[in-house]
Amino acid sequence: MRLLFIGDVVGRSGREAVAAVLPGLRTGLRLDLTVVNAENASHGFGLAPDMAEALFAAGADVLTLGNHAWDRKEIIPYIADHPRLLRPLNYPPGTPGAGAVVVDVADGRRALVAQAMGRLFVDPLDCPFRGTAELLSRHRLGAGGTVQAVLIDFHAEASSEKMAFAHTFDGQASLIVGTHTHCPSADHQILPGGTGFQSDAGMSGDYDSVIGMQKEGAASRFWRKMPGERLNPAEGEATVCGVFVETADATGLARRIEPLRLGGRLSQAVPE
Ligand SMILES: [Fe+2]
Ligand SMILES: [Fe+2]
Repeated sequence: MRLLFIGDVVGRSGREAVAAVLPGLRTGLRLDLTVVNAENASHGFGLAPDMAEALFAAGADVLTLGNHAWDRKEIIPYIADHPRLLRPLNYPPGTPGAGAVVVDVADGRRALVAQAMGRLFVDPLDCPFRGTAELLSRHRLGAGGTVQAVLIDFHAEASSEKMAFAHTFDGQASLIVGTHTHCPSADHQILPGGTGFQSDAGMSGDYDSVIGMQKEGAASRFWRKMPGERLNPAEGEATVCGVFVETADATGLARRIEPLRLGGRLSQAVPE
C-alpha cells in the first residue's frame, strides 16, 4: 500500500498549497491512503468545517487534529458526524469525535488511522501509550490480521517521547509519524520491527515565519517578554511537508520511507 501523511496545515497559505498539490500527488504517487493534519488550518488555530470539506475534496482520506482541536468551536458538532476527522484518542472518555477510524482502501483492503497526543510540554491527557496499546490489541496488522495498514499520528512536543512511542509500537504499525513541532526532522527510517517512523513531518505553511506565524510578532514575544498583538499566519508560499511510505501487503510493514517537501523555501524532496 502507498501512504502519504502531510503535516500540520497552517493558515491560508498551507490550505491553498495542500489543495493545489494533493490531487497531483495522489495520482503521481499512486496513493492508496492520504492523511493530513489540519489542527492549524484556520488562521493557525483549529479547523473550520468548510476547511475540512475542502481538504477532503482535495483528496485527504482522513484528517487529524491535535492540541488545537477545539479552537474553532464549530468543529465540535461537525466531528461527531464525520468519523474521518480524528482528534487524539487519549482525550477523556466522552469527548466528542474519535481518535481512530478504519477506512476501506482499494482492492478490498482496510487501513487503521489513529492519532494520540504526547504528555511532555503539552496538555497532560490520559496515557497515550496505554490508549494506543488497547487500540492495537483490537486491530492486528498484516497476514491473518484485521487491517493491511496502520498509520498513527503522534502529536507531541518532545522528540524523546515520540521515539519512545515509536519503538513501543514498532512492528504493529506501518507508519508512526510525529506532528506538532512544525519542523520536519531528518530521522525518517524503518525501525527494526518494520514500522516507518519520522519524529516530525513538519508543517505545511510558510517557513519564513516562527512555526508558521508572522515572525515579527512571534519573535518579540520572546525577546521583549511583553504580550504582543494577536499572532497571524505568515502568508508567503508554503512548503507542503510530509512523509511517504510504501508497505508490503503481506505484512503491512514499511519497505520504503521518503520525506516530502514541496514548494516554498525548504530544500525540495519529492518521492519517486
Ligand atoms: Fe500544529
Ligand atoms: Fe499542535
